[in-house]
Amino acid sequence: MLATSTPTIAAESVSVLHWWTSGGESKAIGVLKDDMTQQGFKWDDFAVAGGAGAAAMTALKAQVIAGNAPSAAQIKGPSIQDWADQDMLVPIDSAASGWKTELPPQIDQTMRAGKHYVAVPFSVHRINWLWINKAALDKVGGKPPATWPEFFALADKFRAAGIVPVAHGGQPWQDMTVWENVVLSQGPDFYRKALIELDPKTLGSQQMVDVFTTTRKIQSYFDKGYVGRDWNLATAMVISGKAGMQFMGDWAKGEFANANKVPGNDYVCAVTPGTANGFTYTVDSFAFFEQHGAKQASAGQIALAKTIMSTSFQEQFSLYKGSIPVRLDVPVTKFDDCAKKSYADEQSTLKSGGFLPSLAFGMVQSTVTAGAITDAVTKFMNSSEDPQAGVKELVAASKVK
Ligand code: GAL
Repeated sequence: MLATSTPTIAAESVSVLHWWTSGGESKAIGVLKDDMTQQGFKWDDFAVAGGAGAAAMTALKAQVIAGNAPSAAQIKGPSIQDWADQDMLVPIDSAASGWKTELPPQIDQTMRAGKHYVAVPFSVHRINWLWINKAALDKVGGKPPATWPEFFALADKFRAAGIVPVAHGGQPWQDMTVWENVVLSQGPDFYRKALIELDPKTLGSQQMVDVFTTTRKIQSYFDKGYVGRDWNLATAMVISGKAGMQFMGDWAKGEFANANKVPGNDYVCAVTPGTANGFTYTVDSFAFFEQHGAKQASAGQIALAKTIMSTSFQEQFSLYKGSIPVRLDVPVTKFDDCAKKSYADEQSTLKSGGFLPSLAFGMVQSTVTAGAITDAVTKFMNSSEDPQAGVKELVAASKVK
């Protein structure tokens, strides 16, 4: 007798390179893994620890050189175009109908190379946030600082109470986060001229000297052990009340949420001093790599792109990650007050021109130029260089192409 059986088609394995390994980050990427597994795909996780992805990018290059590019990799901003220029990416247009109206125009543009969509965005993270432990704030009788003088007054109160004023991790991207926030505090126009247009006059101005002076002063409120500390460990210091404040994008909120902390009760999210009319953003995205010479995206790659942009995923991912959905048509009703504020400010700054790509997170400038600027800022943070010298190095770095 002939046995009839349905031929089994091996489930496509989707390999995914990313750097989401902290508590909140893992929970968020876990939503995607579950979703893809339910659709019948095999999830091949390639997580490379290291905040902001420097180690992940090194791993990606090694994979590609070895002829083993992942199905999708976490790549963002202008470097999406760099990989597309190398002919490494496949179009995913069939997953992207509607994106043009569903996404903010700046973000829609970033997902394309030429006429084709080659990457899919997850969510919008705001960079200009200050996280404050609520009990510590109450203990010193402080309020969220709206200006730098208020910030330093609060930092002094924390110090007097034996609380580390500012939790920080001395890694280049975290140093950049602090410095970039001080740049933004000079106003959205100053930020645009300096970090987007790289205007030499603005970069070399007295106002920029003041930026470095303020950065140096903030640094004097870090604790001794800050060098090399991972960002989530710095966040943990604020969660526990060991430290008062942290400058960090709102993935920090993913850590607070993961520790069952509630904004308003346990911690406060405040925009960084002087930046109420600005919104520096980073948008995480996955770019899709050609697999075994195929010029078309695979079923798994298309499913991945569609899933990430689905309204249900957009909501659940950001609830865990601390971000807001990148799709403008996903309501934030289920979100906490910090996310609601982020959403409202996104809407208003999209109109006012204060919605600005973060240089610290690779959303503007080439990798080479952004790297040179990061080196200049990191050198300043790790030396006793004076602010004038910092500015000189910044101007030189901005010309590195
Ligand atoms: C950023 C990324 C965030 C967050 C952070 C820390 O580059 O955009 O999603 O994960 O790194 O790892």
